[in-house]
Amino acid sequence: MTRNIEPKSRFLRACDRLPVDATPVWFMRQAGRYMPEYRAIRKRYSLLEIVERPEVVAEVTLQPVHAHGVDAAILFADILLPVVPMGLKLEFIQGEGPVIHNPVRSAAAVKQLRSLDAESDLGHVMEAIRLIRVELSEDVPLIGFSGAPFTLASYMVEGGPSRNYMHVKRMMYSAPESWHALMDRIASSLSRYLVSQVEAGAQALQLFDSWVGALSTRDYERFVLPYSARVLSAAASTGVPVIHFGTVTSHLLKLMKQAGGTVIGLDWRIGLDAGWSILGDDVAVQGNLDPVAMFAPLPELKEQVTDVLRRAGGRPGHIFNLGHGILQDTPVESVRAVVDMVHEWTSVSILSS
Ligand code: CP3
Repeated sequence: MTRNIEPKSRFLRACDRLPVDATPVWFMRQAGRYMPEYRAIRKRYSLLEIVERPEVVAEVTLQPVHAHGVDAAILFADILLPVVPMGLKLEFIQGEGPVIHNPVRSAAAVKQLRSLDAESDLGHVMEAIRLIRVELSEDVPLIGFSGAPFTLASYMVEGGPSRNYMHVKRMMYSAPESWHALMDRIASSLSRYLVSQVEAGAQALQLFDSWVGALSTRDYERFVLPYSARVLSAAASTGVPVIHFGTVTSHLLKLMKQAGGTVIGLDWRIGLDAGWSILGDDVAVQGNLDPVAMFAPLPELKEQVTDVLRRAGGRPGHIFNLGHGILQDTPVESVRAVVDMVHEWTSVSILSS
């Protein structure tokens, strides 16, 4: 959807491929354990306790905005929140990540899933969005998000992270009607969830398809694309820009673009210029510094940031980010340094010299 009024913030302008005063930068997972402010809150509350408390969510969401001067805020939540009201038992286990104790592995289990009623089931998320918007200036828009249908389904079926996606692919290949019923249920739930986030005040949305790279192009097309397309089209109908992100997606980029998105997120494995040329100039891109570069000595980090910016070549429509989420022990100084480098180097246009 085209927006009638030109946005003012760098981040929203870049989503629309408009010229900017400096390249916008934010980080996936920018609020989290690498920040001392976040660790202090985690001493008092578990992750699931934080997300149930809108005032704490607002505080945590704003921490990286205040500490690093990023150009966008991302709602503090988790892609797995919707699975709880849908009927699954979710636990975050220290050191292991998310575990679902009753994974969905049969036609009967798919039938038993509840549809999400975003406003009543996750009303605290909407309340948090309203609180955050009051605190943010117009320069720093708030990004809402959800998992994409495949990545959410992968947790629901595998019960946690997975290497080979054995259970997911088994369902696709041996019980396709169950797979399609599951994806249909997830797609409707996520569509309403994202629309509700915009109604509450989110000014952009990101769809995280973090694990989609495990699929062949053919399986993506027949088992995933129609459902991602449905969610992305519902998200786009709100009028806000939508970022469509995945990792290990070099082979899927064209299909991901076909599924939808104002901006396509690139991971670090592909050169930003190569990824952008696969996608074409009619879409914005986000990325794509290797998250591990944040641990490198400053000269190497600088060199890698410069490389990403050179590949973007000053074209409108680049949002600087990592190629995946910030890692747990990332030095805070590197985060601040990258924000400053991106702003300084792109506003004085040293790249064109
Ligand atoms: O970006 C942000 O700052 C917003 C917050 C956010 C979280 N999770 C908070 C969180 C976002 C956008 C997510 C998305 C998310 N969650 C994804 C997609 C992004 C990606 O990284 O691919 C995925 C796959 C998940 C599922 C998930 N949640 C995992 C695998 C884990 C454990 C991994 C780990 O780092 O321990 C979580 C837990 C989680 N979600 C944490 C945070 C800050 C760490 C838990 C803690 O504080 O104890």
